[in-house]
Amino acid sequence: MMIRLLVFGMLLQVLGGNSQADDTFTCTAGGEGSFPKPSCYDPVCTSAIVSHIQHEFDAAFKYMYMGAKFGQYTTARPGITKFLLESASEERSHAIQMLDYLNTRGITYTKPYNFSQRSVWRIANDGVTIENALKEAIEMEIDVTNRIKEVVKTCGNDFHAADVFTNPILDEQHNGLRKLQGALRTLQVMKATPINAAGRAMAEYFFDLKLLSGEV
Ligand SMILES: [Fe+2]
Repeated sequence: MMIRLLVFGMLLQVLGGNSQADDTFTCTAGGEGSFPKPSCYDPVCTSAIVSHIQHEFDAAFKYMYMGAKFGQYTTARPGITKFLLESASEERSHAIQMLDYLNTRGITYTKPYNFSQRSVWRIANDGVTIENALKEAIEMEIDVTNRIKEVVKTCGNDFHAADVFTNPILDEQHNGLRKLQGALRTLQVMKATPINAAGRAMAEYFFDLKLLSGEV
């Protein structure tokens, strides 16, 4: 008798647990029996994704602006220009990847994406230098990476969304950060040996050529 009660209690716990998990998901968007309708999703998770997409556009705009600055004839650094404009396209493609993911799940969204102040590159006193641009990019990527980790955490109940945001998205983010940190280190090593400003400027010029040829 005791064992039967125990088994019954465990069964109730399991059923109770399931109904709690089901409460997390919206399965009836569009109304019962409507067609087409999305597969069940966690609205808290999807709204975190919808909000995060703005940060990808912010990053794309900032890279685009920085790239354009280095492309001006007053600066003329084709290597970093190419690198930054490619990064801008990559960020834009991340935003598209996330919008496409929402579409995959059948989730409609109404949030408009705008130009935000986060996209502005506040140039340091020593001006438009490759070192400043790389430092700015690293800071921005660390911020975006942390925000993606928050999305993964928020999507803990929605395994597919958490999975997509972990790999490929978080994986690409960590690789991008590694590339930026490595590039900055290489530049700093190249600039460390010359003893005067002219030598350091020459080191930055050669670093830019390395970026252009894809060696960094
Ligand atoms: Fe990104």
